Amino acid sequence: MSKVVVTRRPPGNAIERVRQVADVWMWPENRAIPAEVLAAEVVDAVGVYSMLTDTIDGTLLDMAPGLQVVSNMAVGVDNIDLAACADRGIAVGHTPDVLTDSTADIAWLLVMASTRRMQEGIDLVRAGEWKQWDPEGLLGHDVSRSTLGIIGMGRVGQAIVMRALGFDMDVMYTARSAKPTVETHLGARRVPLDQLLATSDHVVVAVPLTSGTHQLIGERELAMMKPTANLVNIARGPVVDTEALYEALSNGTIRCAGLDVTDPEPLPPDHKLLTLKNCTVIPHTGSSTWRTRTAMADLAADNLIAALTGEPMPHRVPGT
Ligand code: NAP
Ligand code: GLV
Ligand code: GLV
Repeated sequence: MSKVVVTRRPPGNAIERVRQVADVWMWPENRAIPAEVLAAEVVDAVGVYSMLTDTIDGTLLDMAPGLQVVSNMAVGVDNIDLAACADRGIAVGHTPDVLTDSTADIAWLLVMASTRRMQEGIDLVRAGEWKQWDPEGLLGHDVSRSTLGIIGMGRVGQAIVMRALGFDMDVMYTARSAKPTVETHLGARRVPLDQLLATSDHVVVAVPLTSGTHQLIGERELAMMKPTANLVNIARGPVVDTEALYEALSNGTIRCAGLDVTDPEPLPPDHKLLTLKNCTVIPHTGSSTWRTRTAMADLAADNLIAALTGEPMPHRVPGT
């Protein structure tokens, strides 16, 4: 049988199904596979079952002349050089839809935790500083009846709007193309980015990381936001300029931020963002539920198996 490299063990029994069509070599450790180990193992592989922490670029692909498919256990494919795959006729699979709800939930968790100062509250309680109820204790800003701006109105963006309905929010969005059904059924308006930034109380970033979105939110964009605004990033760290965000949070340009993704990622424990009370950071757990991660693992296996058996892949990345 042909060899498939699995770069890290996923939850569930997806890999058992891959074993029925291929010889599986799986990185045994509970950390990302080192690049040099991956490079050595792909040499005679027909498929790679990859994680978002693996860099799949032209140099790596050149070492794998027999490679037919890269199946990423993620919806985002910014870790993969798609053009290099397309040039070599390598199909790329990813895992949309199955993680949309969990990710939209985490976006809401961060919108609320950040604006209602949850991190500060937890720290205060654990430090023994909760002495009495305080009429001015940890005042934040409301989520209900506020204005929400979503940058990127794809699967995750739309699931975020669905959740906003219960909070009676005014919702606006940006995307490359208009979403008439979102406007008609969910009442969200498409506006230019600058207008969204200037008028939103909460800005949620939900675009893929591409050359067009790299540092989409930088010093200029942060300066346009309200001084009371809350910025939430559940997309990819490099969509936001970390240095500019640190400055904006330290000098009051915006009030707070909630991050599921960071640049760099992981954020080192001594990173200056972590010295800020108004910055809530969680470790890229947007899709991290048993149901969702198992479904992602299954879908990545389905994509890989389909590609290797000559069937249409359930979710092949367009252009590959
Ligand atoms: P999607 O359905 O492809 O949606 C992406 C949206 O971004 C689309 O509406 C697209 O516009 C828009 N967009 C792309 N480039 C843009 C630009 N330059 N300016 C404005 N909008 C732009 O993807 P998804 O499933 O919602 O996922 C989005 C991203 O979230 C993923 O790529 C991934 O990086 C990230 N993600 C993170 C987690 C996590 O664990 N934190 C989980 C899931 C996803 P059009 O519709 O007009 O093309
Ligand atoms: C998670 O970040 C994903 O892209 O699946
Ligand atoms: C708060 O707990 C209140 O009862 O107002």
